[in-house]
Amino acid sequence: MSEKVQLLANGNTYELDVVVGTEGDKGIDITKLQETTGYVTLDTGYKNTGSTTSAITYLDGDKGILRYRGYSIEEVAEKASFTEVMYLLLYGELPKTHELEAFNAKLSQAGEIPTQLDKILDAFPKDAHPMSILGAYFNGLSAHFSKDNAAVTDENILLVLAQMPTVVAHIQQWIRGGRFVDNNASLDYVANFLKMSFGEPGDSSDLNPIVVEAMDKLLILHADHEQNCSTSTVRIVGSSNANIYASMAGGIAALWGPLHGGANQAVLEMLEAIKADGGDTDKWIAKAKDKNDPFRLMGFGHRVYKNFDPRANIIKKACDNLLEALNINDDILDIAKRLEEVALKDEYFISRKLYPNVDFYSGIIYKALGFPTEMFTVLFALGRMPGWLSQWKELRLQKQPIGRPMQIYNGSGMRPYVDIKDR
Ligand code: CMC
Repeated sequence: MSEKVQLLANGNTYELDVVVGTEGDKGIDITKLQETTGYVTLDTGYKNTGSTTSAITYLDGDKGILRYRGYSIEEVAEKASFTEVMYLLLYGELPKTHELEAFNAKLSQAGEIPTQLDKILDAFPKDAHPMSILGAYFNGLSAHFSKDNAAVTDENILLVLAQMPTVVAHIQQWIRGGRFVDNNASLDYVANFLKMSFGEPGDSSDLNPIVVEAMDKLLILHADHEQNCSTSTVRIVGSSNANIYASMAGGIAALWGPLHGGANQAVLEMLEAIKADGGDTDKWIAKAKDKNDPFRLMGFGHRVYKNFDPRANIIKKACDNLLEALNINDDILDIAKRLEEVALKDEYFISRKLYPNVDFYSGIIYKALGFPTEMFTVLFALGRMPGWLSQWKELRLQKQPIGRPMQIYNGSGMRPYVDIKDR
């Protein structure tokens, strides 16, 4: 018999079904709660609310487990390529060789964006944040590719995946004052992206495979993270049947904030500030603990991970390897490691279960690859795009109703309108 929980309300006992996930996680089904009891639940910040069932990503925050479609993040990051992970997230299974080849071929042929759209860049001041430009491109793309763009089709999804690196590379070239480099269908997804980002038109030199591999791994580690802030935003926007580009633009806006994807930029800025301040990590740890100081240790803490973030462990190792391979000696890596060491021994961080998250070391890698700090969150978006699209696809295929949370109103009671001259 399926598990039930009892709710005592209005002097009545109500039985509520329990939904059990594959890994034994349990949720109380309250879909009929208001209808049967007159109550709604209140959960600011959704700390206890499951917004959906999902078969894409599994996360256990206490044990530091992250799996894409059942495959551990450690194994996927070590053995798969980013496009393989895209396929896995979208279709639920690892591709066979011919399936991956066909998928890659489709991606490499669909990356062009209308040249007219690049005029968007002229509308931005040179110091514009690239996330604002990315959002603008996506809203622009929804106008240029408006035919059936709300439909859940492979064609639409692959088009967005193919266009994303081109858009990001155009923003990157605009920032560095370079020229746009055409999509090269003979290169794989990540190599093509790096060429478009840093190359010159007509340049056929080979990329350093260490650089391509580091970028590929970072993108895999960002590919999906179940119902986080930006993904939930994508789902909410998508639930109104908004088109695919508008739904992704919602995710881009949510990701931008420093408590979410914007943290990778904030971490690097913090590390540079500590360096400029003489490298006194104790002082900055004290600032983070001071409740009268709004400063937080960026790249630390997570809503779900309460032991360690498995992505951070992998990125820390990748960071060490990349800097060594490229012979880069970056002081800020030492500062980051010192900060981590001090924080992990400090009662404040221990008692609140605050550990380095995915954003703590990723910026040091992006910096070593040559990206400017303000591009970091855009690169997070590049990695997260397959996750957003997979979640959008799942939501729409499940025919979920429009997302519309309830509230408990605590404003003024009914009162008569006061004429302006009498206020
Ligand atoms: N530095 C100092 N104190 C912190 C930090 C931090 N980074 N994070 C949380 N705390 C404290 C917070 O002040 C609170 O203390 P108290 O109980 O005394 O009031 C306690 O820890 C719980 O924090 P919270 O804000 O209630 O926790 P949350 O689950 O709502 O927030 C978080 C999670 C990630 C927004 C938060 O830890 C944070 O702001 N971290 C820094 C920003 C960051 O690195 N974000 C990236 C998150 S991972 C990737 C992603 O999602 O994009």
